[in-house]
Amino acid sequence: MNIILETRDLSRHFGGLKAVEGVNLKVKAGDLHAIIGPNGAGKTTLFNLLSKAMKPTRGQVLLRGRDITNEPSYRTAHLGIGRSYQITNIFPTLTVLENVRLAAQALGPDNFRLFRHVTQFRHYEETAYHVLHETGLTHSAWQLAQNLPQGDKRKLELAILMAQNLDIWLLDEPTSGLAGEHVPAFMELLDRVRKQEDKTVVLVEHNMNVVMSLSDRISVMHLGELLAEGTPGEIATNPTVQKAYLGELYSNLESDKLGD
Ligand SMILES: Nc1ncnc2c1ncn2[C@@H]1O[C@H](COP(=O)(O)OP(=O)(O)O)[C@@H](O)[C@H]1O
Ligand SMILES: [Mg+2]
Repeated sequence: MNIILETRDLSRHFGGLKAVEGVNLKVKAGDLHAIIGPNGAGKTTLFNLLSKAMKPTRGQVLLRGRDITNEPSYRTAHLGIGRSYQITNIFPTLTVLENVRLAAQALGPDNFRLFRHVTQFRHYEETAYHVLHETGLTHSAWQLAQNLPQGDKRKLELAILMAQNLDIWLLDEPTSGLAGEHVPAFMELLDRVRKQEDKTVVLVEHNMNVVMSLSDRISVMHLGELLAEGTPGEIATNPTVQKAYLGELYSNLESDKLGD
């Protein structure tokens, strides 16, 4: 198995609270790997540890077998790990095109050089138009990002990740803020582009239908720990998961829907 991202005994405590505790996660290259679990299970904290936004209390993060636990956060993107946040990372007063071109440029080979060759700029521009096309945002290229409807903002976040030369996308609730009926289409778009661009995706998503149909593997978190790991079929029929979590989650989803 070609493991691209791995954690060993990864833990993060806040005082006495074990937000993430002893997590051994293995993500296979090219997989869409979902992390599910109720609110407060530790999913976002785990993402903070994977993206280096936070230091673990204990344990390691390995990228292609190499220990990156002590790499500083500014190196994360250069290591090929990119992240979209529950809180958006779009520049609201720039156009859609500028947002995507900046993303392409930020990780370019000579991002600290003042004078770049004009062909390099053309390359960034081409990358930007390519990802706008792939995400269906071409018609909005000249709009200010802040004026996009919610669904297109989520697409722009995806486009920003696509524009960077990353191997792994960490997506923490990429469909948050989307009306329920728009979630499946967005997730199908994500699934198409990640396969096309050959990316590994680690994803937190609450829509169980989508998670079950698109994930290669699923890890279930509960009170900071990994409760189970497996294919969607294995997770759906795992008695521990069902008892501890799935029933509860489905009822939460129902009440979420009522709240919409
Ligand atoms: N910076 C922090 N300081 C203190 N407690 C935190 C912090 N971040 C998260 N927590 C706590 O850690 C637990 C896990 O939170 P989180 O990782 O956000 O869970 P999830 O994303 O699964 O909802 C929660 O009890 C939360 O209140
Ligand atoms: Mg969270």
